[in-house]
Amino acid sequence: MSMIIDGKAVSAKVKENVRDEIAELKKKGITAGLAVIIVGDDPASKVYVRNKKLACEFCGIDSYEYALPAETTQDELISLVKKLNADERVDGILCQLPLPEHIDEKAVIDNISPDKDVDAFHPVNVGRIMIGDYRFLPCTPAGVMELIASTGVEVKGKECVVVGRSNIVGKPMAMLLLHNSGTVTVCHSKTKDLAEHCRKADILVAAVGVPKLITGDMIKDGAVVIDVGVNRLENGKLCGDVDFESAKEKASYITPVPGGVGPMTIAMLMKNTLAAAKMKAAE
Ligand code: GUN
Repeated sequence: MSMIIDGKAVSAKVKENVRDEIAELKKKGITAGLAVIIVGDDPASKVYVRNKKLACEFCGIDSYEYALPAETTQDELISLVKKLNADERVDGILCQLPLPEHIDEKAVIDNISPDKDVDAFHPVNVGRIMIGDYRFLPCTPAGVMELIASTGVEVKGKECVVVGRSNIVGKPMAMLLLHNSGTVTVCHSKTKDLAEHCRKADILVAAVGVPKLITGDMIKDGAVVIDVGVNRLENGKLCGDVDFESAKEKASYITPVPGGVGPMTIAMLMKNTLAAAKMKAAE
């Protein structure tokens, strides 16, 4: 039987710390602002954006929301990004993904100032992650690191297996584990024997977007299991990439979905916005 890692509780602590630091900055006349852009009306994106706004309110960060219609052109979106790059009130810019198909996400991300790129998606910040010279931590992988730290289990020297190789989660996740001296294996859709790799993991991070792909028989006794997946089942319920019921019999610590990694991503975004405001104040 495993201990359930409470992402809501860990994220609340992170947000409280950000709130306290923002309050200190305000005493010095420094405010922090986050611009959030959403294009179209994808229901899941709307929920994320609403939660980001609520987190800003909690932390005392000014939030500026730009809800654009699905027909917005790439040029119009890039013009807005450039306007926000120059806006003194705005420390962080987040463009909610996915964008409608007619817009090239890369072109938009490339136009966000690296100094305001609180998602850490810009190639400059991705490169910085590679060499361990962080200004902004990639939100979801950084949230996972906080959750692992909350268990008291050290990453150093551990077999870490990341399932998934996306630019947003899998690749930066592998880097953060590596920087913390884990021995890291990255598995993906072409991996020959996924179960065999997973069974070696002391720390297993699943981020593939396949419901319940990782089952209890693929988990080493006592492993820490972190589930980044958010999949909507036909019955409308959310489930992760890990089959929670069988996995919890093997893991020492495990995250639930929802209530595990999800709240951490937003908390780390708040932390990055604070970092951006501090960077600007130090200029
Ligand atoms: N869509 C899903 N996750 C994210 C995220 O972390 N940042 C942005 N901008 N869009 C997302």
